[in-house]
Amino acid sequence: MGATKIAFVSCAYATYRRDQPAWAQILEAQPDLLLMLGDNAYMSWDGTDWLFDKLEDCYVDQFKVPTFRRLIDSVPTLAVWDDHDCGPNDTYGAEAPPDYLATTREKFDRWMGFARNNNRPHMYCSYRDIPNVQVLMLDGRTYRTRPDKWKPVLFGQAQEQWLAEQLDPTLYRQPAITIVATGSAFSEGDSVSKYPAEAKRLRELLAFREGDAADSGRRALFLGGDIHRNHFFTHPEGFHELISSGVACFKPRTYVESEFVESRYSDNWGLITLDESQVRVEFFANAHTQGNPKAQVIDIATWKATPA
Ligand SMILES: [Fe+2]
Repeated sequence: MGATKIAFVSCAYATYRRDQPAWAQILEAQPDLLLMLGDNAYMSWDGTDWLFDKLEDCYVDQFKVPTFRRLIDSVPTLAVWDDHDCGPNDTYGAEAPPDYLATTREKFDRWMGFARNNNRPHMYCSYRDIPNVQVLMLDGRTYRTRPDKWKPVLFGQAQEQWLAEQLDPTLYRQPAITIVATGSAFSEGDSVSKYPAEAKRLRELLAFREGDAADSGRRALFLGGDIHRNHFFTHPEGFHELISSGVACFKPRTYVESEFVESRYSDNWGLITLDESQVRVEFFANAHTQGNPKAQVIDIATWKATPA
């Protein structure tokens, strides 16, 4: 059996980035699966207004990109949303007017409806159609409250329970490798770690445990987006965090639309290649991106990463 490849991306702002070279590179890599981790279209860059027509126009522009169309037509894709396709910047779905949220959700379901989802009407879903790996996609916006609230909510009780069940070997066959993916990074930006109770439970679920996956072993990768750069980090619990963000967008600290210039373009994407003994993680970026993380090789037996 050949290696399995999973490409992952987030943040495409087609309104301002019609030229999106990353998709052709991903097509060339011939992945078995594509994960889209939110901000698949942008309502706006900043501000608090709900600009539904702008979001619709951004989806229209995104689906005019021929290489993007070819990629999603040829590679199975999973998708969740993040703040900019859910609403304005930093949208907290649980605090948004329900009819506003229903309007952006209708757009997500219509435009991104091509994505595989075995758990509709929920956005969160699982995928087990490729060997040795399960992918669990988490919706980090619909149920989210502000982090400074008393008892803040990120994924919410029902989704958390669903996740715990998916990761329970007595309920579901556990393949060797577990990928949990969402729009947010774990520790940076609008991060999971701003929700301490849920972050602690997620850390426990993803913690490395020796042994067979079918029994009590766990070898987990946490994938996120949001921060408009690529990033690799190994957590103290032994799971690895892989961030790729800004597939057709702008670098972090681009504040206003007048800064949407070529030297600030980001073309970031990530690729996971799995074979029987190791997981290779690679990050791709354009020539004016500094500090792209090194490729890593993770040994499946020990779940330790070393720079490739
Ligand atoms: Fe973004």
